[in-house]
Amino acid sequence: MSKPVIVYLNGNYLPIEDAHVSVLDRGFIFGDGVYEVIPAYGGYPLRLKHHLQRLQNSLDAIRLSNPYSDSEWTDIINSLIDKNEGEDQYIYLQVTRGVAKRDHRFPDGNTPTVFVMSSPLLAVDSELLKNGVSAITLDDIRWRYCNIKTTALLGNVLLRQQAVEQNAAEAILVRDNDVTEGAASNLFIVLNGVIITPPKSDLLLPGITRDLIVELAHHHQLACEERSITPEELKQAEEVWVTSSTKEILPITTLDGKTVGNGTPGKVWQNMFTLYQNNKAQLRQGKDLNA
Ligand code: PDD
Repeated sequence: MSKPVIVYLNGNYLPIEDAHVSVLDRGFIFGDGVYEVIPAYGGYPLRLKHHLQRLQNSLDAIRLSNPYSDSEWTDIINSLIDKNEGEDQYIYLQVTRGVAKRDHRFPDGNTPTVFVMSSPLLAVDSELLKNGVSAITLDDIRWRYCNIKTTALLGNVLLRQQAVEQNAAEAILVRDNDVTEGAASNLFIVLNGVIITPPKSDLLLPGITRDLIVELAHHHQLACEERSITPEELKQAEEVWVTSSTKEILPITTLDGKTVGNGTPGKVWQNMFTLYQNNKAQLRQGKDLNA
């Protein structure tokens, strides 16, 4: 029999069925909160320090003080990994501005709501890695603070749904002639053999997977640039990838109904995918080289 799912809510570990939040929580009423998604391989969270730093940046941006120190977060995350099933897991954590009478302005002296859960992280389907997936381009309708990892994801939800309804795995977003990122992923292209990803700005989420890929590229002397990408360059790219903590590096082989490159995952992707898997293998032995 499988173990019950145990979550963390405001200081307590409890079965997920028993975890309840007030209907007046500002996360529910306003989407007034931030979150993180952290993959853990063989019990070891990947780049935990980077995720906790991004959480701090998101909290600072919405002017909410961090309820815990990094070591307290680390204890909660490690406890949940221990208490739950899955050789590989991903941790979802969210902090909201807490429960208060409905009023847009910040409440005085509020206690934030903290929720953390861990779910099994399944390996990406081998068929998808063999054949790649489709994506469509869409207008980036989101707000201007896309660097904040907010739980207010309605724009992302509508964009991803539009992609799904067109049998695509991801929407690739374009704002003012710049390709920004995916609805829930960062974007890379390979153009004339060079790996390119848009620079960090308030137009996109600074992905932890993205940063790891850029570092791996530099470390292995692969040509890699962080610079703006136009929709025209996206169309001409030999390879297109989307990256995230849960899907790692997915090759896009059909874009807006047209074949990317020769229609199969490219050589540069294959190389980067292997480097990424090697990095995970080291983490499984407890060696997070860039913890
Ligand atoms: N999303 N951009 C957006 C808009 C995202 O939602 C995500 C990840 C990323 C990639 O970031 P990272 O490499 O740190 O996972 C980029 C997570 C996985 C989610 O919302 O479930």
